[in-house]
Amino acid sequence: MTTSPGGHDWVWWRDGVLYQIYPRSFSDSNGDGIGDLRGITGKLDYLQWLGVEGIWINPITASPNDDWGYDVSDYCAVHPELGTLDDLDDLIAEATERGIRVLLDLVPNHSSDQHSWFADALQSPTSSKRDYYVWADPAPDGGSPNNWVNTFNPGASAWTLDTVSGQYHLSQFLASQPDLNWWNDDVRDEFDRIFRFWYDRGVAGFRLDVCHAVVKDRELRDNPPTEADDHWYTRMYGQRFVYNTNRPEVHDVIRRWRAVADSYADPRVLVGETYVLDSNAYAAYYGNDDELNLAFNMILLHARFDATEMRTAVESAEALLPATAWPTWTGGNHDNHRWATRWCNNEPAKIRAAMLMLMTLRGTPFLYYGDEIGMPDTDVPEPEILDPVGHMFGPRMGRDNERTPMHWNAASGAGFSDPGVVPWLRYGDHEACNVAAQVDDPQSMLALTRRLIKLRRESDDLRRGAYTSIPTGDDTLAWAWRRGESTVVAMNFGAIPVTIDDVFGTVALSTDSGSTNREGHVIAGTITLSAHEAIVVVSQ
Ligand code: NOJ
Ligand code: CA
Repeated sequence: MTTSPGGHDWVWWRDGVLYQIYPRSFSDSNGDGIGDLRGITGKLDYLQWLGVEGIWINPITASPNDDWGYDVSDYCAVHPELGTLDDLDDLIAEATERGIRVLLDLVPNHSSDQHSWFADALQSPTSSKRDYYVWADPAPDGGSPNNWVNTFNPGASAWTLDTVSGQYHLSQFLASQPDLNWWNDDVRDEFDRIFRFWYDRGVAGFRLDVCHAVVKDRELRDNPPTEADDHWYTRMYGQRFVYNTNRPEVHDVIRRWRAVADSYADPRVLVGETYVLDSNAYAAYYGNDDELNLAFNMILLHARFDATEMRTAVESAEALLPATAWPTWTGGNHDNHRWATRWCNNEPAKIRAAMLMLMTLRGTPFLYYGDEIGMPDTDVPEPEILDPVGHMFGPRMGRDNERTPMHWNAASGAGFSDPGVVPWLRYGDHEACNVAAQVDDPQSMLALTRRLIKLRRESDDLRRGAYTSIPTGDDTLAWAWRRGESTVVAMNFGAIPVTIDDVFGTVALSTDSGSTNREGHVIAGTITLSAHEAIVVVSQ
């Protein structure tokens, strides 16, 4: 489907910028301290002004909230704290009027144990829904059927004993999030119906939770141990996720989902949470243009803010993605500390450079709400922790710090909720960083983000141009790349100036917010970037 903000071949999810909303924390319309769908509708004018083309909303479905919506008890009902189906219909209608698409979040790997399917499955090994979940007999010693560990807690088994039947069920996340059995055709049919239920209401697509993990090894074989040179994230678990994730058959399931999405006259879009740290495995999720439309790249997200690591993450994907695949890049989400803090140590110059990077790589950028104002993490103290991972391992590992309410203004309530209302998670320092304070300041982070979105929209090079690596002479400090024929991006990751040769053209945009800003200057071969400066140069 094509529309036309930036030309006749405009495809919203390739050419636009997408924006992730954690619904409990965006805007509270009824003063109960919890963000909701009507709150999002109330902020659509802002999102249109910012220039985003679509929003992805974290799960809005019914849930006991053991994992804040990722434990679904009814896939076709809206959580009452977030609103109603009518509220969603209104949101979609209002968003459509503003040229904004609405993507929801689907959790196909597991349900809540409060889902009626699981209640039925627990009744007996012969119940009609028993095989919707992954069950196995104990190992000969009575223990867990295999060595798979829990994703939230590497020290714990992924199996939970059902004392009534004496069998174990698999839960790769919380025990109250039992894994569904994707070998069962009835499960596949149920999800076809769920997809269609939402597509028929005008939902533009889905972000698919842990989609690389839905199919498990049929024989439930033990995972092998990690090797010394495995990614640190994998080593944390002591085993390679060979048999519980990333199975060859998962691609059949994703192709099936894609066929449903493509069956609509206005095809729907699938964005996968592909939590794989191997570029080959990552690239495979695009299939032959018949699997995911966009696959999140966790390698970049987990890279340090360092020229070599960032360049390597991007170039390994660039080298392996099939020709039809379109990358997508993000620095953070509701599971990882905000990149303003994690990558940039809350330093404005670094935050500005990181934003320029995300907006100028080849691929669709995803912003996490608040990124546009450089919103940092909020320290949520131990007694206020709500995230189950935070309960197990404390605030550093927990995910509350990146999930606190949006900073709309400096007033009591942060513009998120009514003054005096206690929000579901505490406010961060909204006096120091908020939308209202930045909106009219041309030097602000918000102004920079908006200019970058506009620049992308107006530049064929930035929208669609090929990525070509440019040597900088100092790959530990600087990274530069060409987009298309005539656009060059150069970044200084260091705290000291760095000189880059062979750059020709006019500086279209610089992250330098001081009097040294050289936008409009002509560069005839050599440019010296100031500390943490990033620029876009366009030649004719
Ligand atoms: C990934 C989601 O992003 C995360 O928030 C959730 O806890 C797990 N999957 C389990 O659904
Ligand atoms: Ca509310």
